[in-house]
Amino acid sequence: MSEEIPLFRKYPKLRNIPWVSVINSPTPIHKMEETSKELNHKEIWVKRDDLSHEIYGGNKPRKYEFVFADILKKNKKRILTQGAIGTNHGLATTVHAKKYGLKTHLFLVEQKLSQHVRENLLCHHYFGARLKLMKSNFRRKLAIKARLLFDKKAYFVTTGASSPLGTLGFVNAAFEIKEQIDDGIIPEPDKIFVTVGSLATCAGLVLGLELVEAKTKVIGIGVTDPTWSSKKNTLDLAAKALALMRTKDSSIPNVSNELEKRLIVDHSYFGGKYGVPTKEAFEAIEIAHKDELKLEYVYTGKTLSGLLDYIRQEKISKDEIIVFWNSKSFADLAPYVKKTKYKDLPKGFHKFFDGTIKMKEEDH
Ligand SMILES: Cc1ncc(COP(=O)(O)O)c(C=O)c1O
Repeated sequence: MSEEIPLFRKYPKLRNIPWVSVINSPTPIHKMEETSKELNHKEIWVKRDDLSHEIYGGNKPRKYEFVFADILKKNKKRILTQGAIGTNHGLATTVHAKKYGLKTHLFLVEQKLSQHVRENLLCHHYFGARLKLMKSNFRRKLAIKARLLFDKKAYFVTTGASSPLGTLGFVNAAFEIKEQIDDGIIPEPDKIFVTVGSLATCAGLVLGLELVEAKTKVIGIGVTDPTWSSKKNTLDLAAKALALMRTKDSSIPNVSNELEKRLIVDHSYFGGKYGVPTKEAFEAIEIAHKDELKLEYVYTGKTLSGLLDYIRQEKISKDEIIVFWNSKSFADLAPYVKKTKYKDLPKGFHKFFDGTIKMKEEDH
């Protein structure tokens, strides 16, 4: 694991911001040979954040390098966070928090049941999360507030860890890709396609690419409610992350007004509702499979379907260098799933396994 990150190499004064090592970096970047052939587009590349950690990788652990450091600095012991029962964020938090002696408490609401959701639930338990099933988002908020009032060792991590601190993980990711360009591993990309869910991944990349003065534009494919994962909200978060950086190093240029030109956020591939499968996402999953990539239909499948459509619709010219940011963990959870019995979960969760609730969707 690297101990000096590209962001600190560029701005040494930012070393005052607490940071801990969570991921294996730099994550690889390489051409998607089969996809490029299939689309008749020479330069489609993939940034392998799916390989960011051997137990649970993907985009979340980048954010934790800053968020966990803050938790440890504040001497907190418990993480309170939230999501739907199959939350990737919750699982990633649980897995990585353990290494730092932090216990994760997950406040969960129901979602459409799938095999993936079941597996994540079993893994939440396997990796030691305390699980609480909440009847509504309102009750979830209240329960977290109440817990924070009496538990002074608890720290709330926002949905998807998309705080300004979490965003710095992806500012650093942009600096990492800049080093890969400078090292001749990839030519400077024209466009990066990335998923927009809770915002920090896209916000951090946009800000980081601006600070390294890359020509690269970001196409964010929205997969959550457009009123939430909007361009405005993404830019607002990027501006907050920049303001945070500038409190530590005032020589960092105030580029907040420049960011707008670098970003498109497109919800055309969203399917109308968070988590619903689209046939285009399934097609993208199959194509990516030929490059030995494992995508899923909630996030990365939709994002790649957007990239494919931009090429087919000629919204991208033939010679452009395109990067697909693969943000879903590649790690195999099967060994942990096998070792966990659903009856070991709190009783309220048994209904997701014992046939009381039927699976409505074909799983990916
Ligand atoms: C696998 C995966 N990719 C991408 C995203 C989007 O990242 P962010 O929440 O930072 O917008 C998420 C979460 O929303 C995710 O779970």
